[in-house]
Amino acid sequence: MKLYHRFSTFFLISFISIQSFAQKNASEYFIDSLMNKMSLDEKIGQLNLAAVPDGAITGTEFSKDINQKIADGQMGGVFGTWNIMEIKAMQDIAVNKSRLHIPLLFGLDVIHGHKTIFPVPLGMSCSWDTALLRQVARISADEASSEGINWVFSPMVDISRDPRWGRVVEGAGEDPFLGSQIAKAIVEGYQQNFGANNTVMACVKHFALYGAVVGGREYNSVDMSPQQMYQYYLPPYKAAVDAGVGSIMTSFNDLNGLPSSGNKWLLSNLLRKQWKFKGFTVSDYSAVGELANHGLGDEKTISALALNAGTNMEMVGEHYLHTLKDLINEGKVSVQAVDNACRVILEAKYKLGLFQNPYLFINTERAAKEILTKAHKDFAQQVAEHSFVLLKNNPQVLPLQSKGTIAVIGPLADSKANMLGAWNAAGDTSNAITVLDGIKNFVGGKGTIIYRKGANITDDSLLKRRVNIFKNEISTDERTPEQMLEDATEAASKANVIVAVVGEAADMTGESASRTHIDIPESQRNLLKALKKTGKPLIAVLFNGRPLTLKWENDSCDAILDVWFGGTETGNAIADVLFGRYNPSGKITMSFPKDEGQIPLYYNRKNTGRYYDEKRDGLSSKFKSDYLDESNDPLFPFGYGLSYTTFLYGNIQLSNARPSGNEALKATIKITNTGKYAGEETVQLYITDPVARVTRSVEDLQGFKKVFLQSGESKDVTFTIIPENLKYYDYDLKYDWDAGDFIIRIGTNSRDTQSAKVKWSK
Ligand code: NOJ
Repeated sequence: MKLYHRFSTFFLISFISIQSFAQKNASEYFIDSLMNKMSLDEKIGQLNLAAVPDGAITGTEFSKDINQKIADGQMGGVFGTWNIMEIKAMQDIAVNKSRLHIPLLFGLDVIHGHKTIFPVPLGMSCSWDTALLRQVARISADEASSEGINWVFSPMVDISRDPRWGRVVEGAGEDPFLGSQIAKAIVEGYQQNFGANNTVMACVKHFALYGAVVGGREYNSVDMSPQQMYQYYLPPYKAAVDAGVGSIMTSFNDLNGLPSSGNKWLLSNLLRKQWKFKGFTVSDYSAVGELANHGLGDEKTISALALNAGTNMEMVGEHYLHTLKDLINEGKVSVQAVDNACRVILEAKYKLGLFQNPYLFINTERAAKEILTKAHKDFAQQVAEHSFVLLKNNPQVLPLQSKGTIAVIGPLADSKANMLGAWNAAGDTSNAITVLDGIKNFVGGKGTIIYRKGANITDDSLLKRRVNIFKNEISTDERTPEQMLEDATEAASKANVIVAVVGEAADMTGESASRTHIDIPESQRNLLKALKKTGKPLIAVLFNGRPLTLKWENDSCDAILDVWFGGTETGNAIADVLFGRYNPSGKITMSFPKDEGQIPLYYNRKNTGRYYDEKRDGLSSKFKSDYLDESNDPLFPFGYGLSYTTFLYGNIQLSNARPSGNEALKATIKITNTGKYAGEETVQLYITDPVARVTRSVEDLQGFKKVFLQSGESKDVTFTIIPENLKYYDYDLKYDWDAGDFIIRIGTNSRDTQSAKVKWSK
């Protein structure tokens, strides 16, 4: 109690006064009175965010003298540590030693779980299950907040159509409709109840359009038409803002000539004026300083540019700290601009409840009770099962019987280091269940399991060195590749079935992990080729943080189960699916190309004046929008994913084929489970607008519903379509719809749909 004394005396006085004001003004009044006491230096101090040097390393510059700066009122927040004692020590300094006792924000990259690690976000998006994702965010908030974290750098909502970019693993794929629903669910999950000790502030990132970097090359530039932005790339950020996200992180990329952290149009006009965002913005790691590398001037120029553009807090670099006072004296930055930035940061602290209790999130007993609980792990397993996508199963080799001899082969089969996937700051790989462990747990004494590594993840020494920078994910066997192959094939030839566990190492995706060749590394393809020669049924369990090019695998393997990176319970979840305890239901949220040369490849493409359609145009066409050496089609289209059962789609029944005005149109379709397993299907609604004032996509996702059917069971699935679903941005960015014909498509993926025409009048 003594600890809080100075702090509470100060704030108690203010709080007594707060009571006399209407509730909605309490925060305003409190912050006004606090800011009246703050010096300019202290206000600038609030705009400073430091990275703890011995925490999660996520950039190349490091913050210095953190404790001294906290004591001097030169720090608004700290990120990168989840060591509760370290957090408490820093909060003690802020509360007891700084002149105004202003508590700190403690941020962390909680990307797919805190200590209970869930599948990588791209994997989770394949569940198309927003309730599940909301709960993932909730559990992550529970765990992170119990270790002192009050601010999470998530969700990442960058739409991307380019699987070369390593950070596709952090997002929800290529579609703005699904991406928006997921963004909303995650924000709501984290921010459930401000003021409670398990509610954290979300930080949506990376604003904006980072997913469209040229060539998929990390940190590269983005140049994009306004129509493209508004129609396809901005909706998920907007959805997060509409869901009340408390903070937004700027992106590293240059956007049409001005990097986000210095882009006034983006941060002030779009975000604040158009979208009415009320929270605070934070730059990405050293992104303010990097404005100089972009060629925008010296330290003072870039600081002024960033602050005046609307970057409120600077993450690492301290250019604000060094220059803002001088810039004010020189008239290049106004006191008002600093006040505005300081105010929104203080408001966030107020909202979180930190002024009432700076130790709200610092309670060592909670951590012991709330982290990696059985319930959390069980849920993580459930989420992993929902994230897996069955890409091939022909003939029905899966599910497997838990008997006989099963050869589990591959460099990812027993690799704890790779199960969690990229970007799990507080995750501990030693808690991860490998595929081999999971299969053994499931089969128990009923069958025989043989394990062989068979190959290294890659034998490419450069790739290995770069991926292994932080931890040894790609281990190199003492044996030669030939010896490993021989060992594996000899063992596999004794088995009834081969489960080949292959793919990418965890850090082959994530930040700074772009690839030009998005295939399975050669060493592992050689392994698959050798295993194929045994003639045994070959099942590929595929680890990947991005769509891969899988033509050979698709032609050669009997089944492919894409498991992304499933998190803490990966192995148990995989066993449940392989042996049929859970029937896979995931659907991919990025198109899988046949060849890298097709990238960017996405389902909601434009038609062009000369679109090439393989079926219609044949193989000897000329003067078409095509390639001489590959078709335009993906190997697996957006929304694709198989089940152990089969679903039959009936015809679409419309409530009215000629709706008018704001009428709600109902489109119903009967789905029948025609296979022998119970299973869940994600029914997808797409709309085509064949004639418009600007060119439109060939179709856009506008709805999805999950339906669970017993074998032989049928259910009607109904979508309600309103004019909002028909709207688009025209050349003047007017968002509206036109009367006329529309095609309603409902199906199992973006390619295989039933369709019905409607004529909608105004
Ligand atoms: C850089 C990354 O781009 C961003 O996603 C992350 O939140 C920050 N570093 C902080 O670690």
